[in-house]
Amino acid sequence: MYRTHICGELRQVNVNMDVTLSGWVQRVRNLGGMTFVDLRDRYGITQLVFNMETDPALGENARKLGREFVVQAVGTVAERSNKNPRMPTGDIEIIVKSFNILNSSELPPFTIEDETDGGEELRMKYRYLDLRRNPNRNNLELRHRMAQEIRKYLDSQSFIEIETPVMIKSTPEGARDFIVPSRMNPGEFYALPQSPQLFKQLLMVAGYDRYFQIVRCFRDEDLRADRQPEFTQIDCEMAFVERDDVLDTFEGLTKHLFMFVLGKEFKEPFLKMPYAEAMENYGSDKPDLRFGMKIRDMSSFVKGKNFMVFDNAEYIGGICAPSCAIYSRKELDELTEWVKRPQIGAKGLIYVRYNPDNTLRSSVDKFYQESDLRLWAEKSGAKPGDLLLLMAGEKTKTLKALSELRLEMGSRLGLRNKDEFVPLWVVDFPLLEWNEESKRFFAMHHPFTSPNMDDIALLDTDPGNVRANAYDLVINGIEIGGGSIRIHNHDLQRKMFQVLGFTEEQAHEQFGFLMNAFKYGAPPHGGVAFGFDRWTALFAGTDSIRDVIAFPKNNSGRDVMNDSPSVLPDEQLKELFIKVIKPVVESS
Ligand code: AMO
Repeated sequence: MYRTHICGELRQVNVNMDVTLSGWVQRVRNLGGMTFVDLRDRYGITQLVFNMETDPALGENARKLGREFVVQAVGTVAERSNKNPRMPTGDIEIIVKSFNILNSSELPPFTIEDETDGGEELRMKYRYLDLRRNPNRNNLELRHRMAQEIRKYLDSQSFIEIETPVMIKSTPEGARDFIVPSRMNPGEFYALPQSPQLFKQLLMVAGYDRYFQIVRCFRDEDLRADRQPEFTQIDCEMAFVERDDVLDTFEGLTKHLFMFVLGKEFKEPFLKMPYAEAMENYGSDKPDLRFGMKIRDMSSFVKGKNFMVFDNAEYIGGICAPSCAIYSRKELDELTEWVKRPQIGAKGLIYVRYNPDNTLRSSVDKFYQESDLRLWAEKSGAKPGDLLLLMAGEKTKTLKALSELRLEMGSRLGLRNKDEFVPLWVVDFPLLEWNEESKRFFAMHHPFTSPNMDDIALLDTDPGNVRANAYDLVINGIEIGGGSIRIHNHDLQRKMFQVLGFTEEQAHEQFGFLMNAFKYGAPPHGGVAFGFDRWTALFAGTDSIRDVIAFPKNNSGRDVMNDSPSVLPDEQLKELFIKVIKPVVESS
């Protein structure tokens, strides 16, 4: 038997017990005639003791142990004279009688400690070593617990878990598809699913009125901290439902997870905020509501004093940063440079200091009297001690930059506490988005989202103003999930493809199977999909979803551990009837 106990298990009550433990050597310390070895497994660390005086040969061998050796030790549990209250097993140690090296280890390229000295790329290359570290293990255990609770809740609500294919037909859905060549069908390709969208709708047509799946999705898009090329969705669909039936069911799931994973209770219903309101007040369709600092539209009362930046602007907006009037000139210059970075894209920043002594000073004092500034302060709800930060320009861009500034100020002021959670539903998204380059509308969510029936007439006259019956779950400024009520009527779906610029033939060629299914009694249906990695990262208190994925890809979409993607041998390509055109490398 390799072990009688695990390394996080033994306590004072076990003193005098004979035990066998197996695990990895965390560290070896030699103190005088004693050697101490910390033995680690998934469950914790136990101290092994070797006494050079009572058994010199054994002690000598113990000194040869290196970090990450795999060891089996047999011994007796003893009370420690020098207890360690920071370790759960810190009251005891094992007086080792014999041990067995199950495997040796090369010196690991970084320390297997909570705070390691290894850089990210190195840790990714040796991910199996990185995963031995507590923070990663905790994250994977959290992910596992969440998956169990998700299944428990959805099962209790009569959802059934159904798997859908991973090799599917390539359909334009938003991002680029990852493609799989078919050897048996030369020149033809499968795609990996960006989501199981069409299959879950077909399952509704098939009568499985409550479906879910914890499922891998694939999108070939530019990567960020919250995006991976392969990621996991909690994908769900329901039939015979209206929007609020879906929201109620998944608000239930959200509350269940908060309660049973984090021990946090949410009694009140989640706020529902229309998209237009989110954009106007927060400049974002995923507002972080842990703090206020709403964006104020100041366009109507700051113009007309010959300050051309304002006079020529489509929109002027501002936020009021509490207790920031004390910001020095240097800090304000630095903040101005910050908003001018390309990621934020603002042209500049105008400030008004509402000093604690009730005076007001601004960076535009040349153009405005103190009474003007006082009016601005009043309209934006500023109080003495506050700092007003204003931006002007094209409305959409300015709101976006103000949104970034708001989040930055929220962080600088410590208002974005990782242990506080504010969930909300953002509802009433626009159905369509105009694309200037291709001069056509795109579906903001996807082409199967139902328009709001109140706006149906606008589809012909003013498509840009049609609202969708779509919704997102947002928590702390993160889009955790999104979904919609679907079109289930054949004619409306045809109309939608028309508005999106598909010819009848194109719509048939790409989505014919769905359109056909809609001819055979499709029930009203709707659903949602949550980003499981994002949700886990939020609960784990980390900003990067890589931290909650066992084997993630890096920012270039590479797995640096197995060095993929990789070049294929000519033979394999030939079998697939594929010829690779070498990319042209531009000379500098
Ligand atoms: P959507 O495209 O909004 O909807 O995706 C749902 C959720 O998946 C997460 N997500 C991602 N997570 C990590 N990396 C990515 N690259 C990535 N892309 C998306 C987000 C997002 O909210 N079929 C529809 C759902 C539906 O209509 O039911 C869909 O996929 O958290």
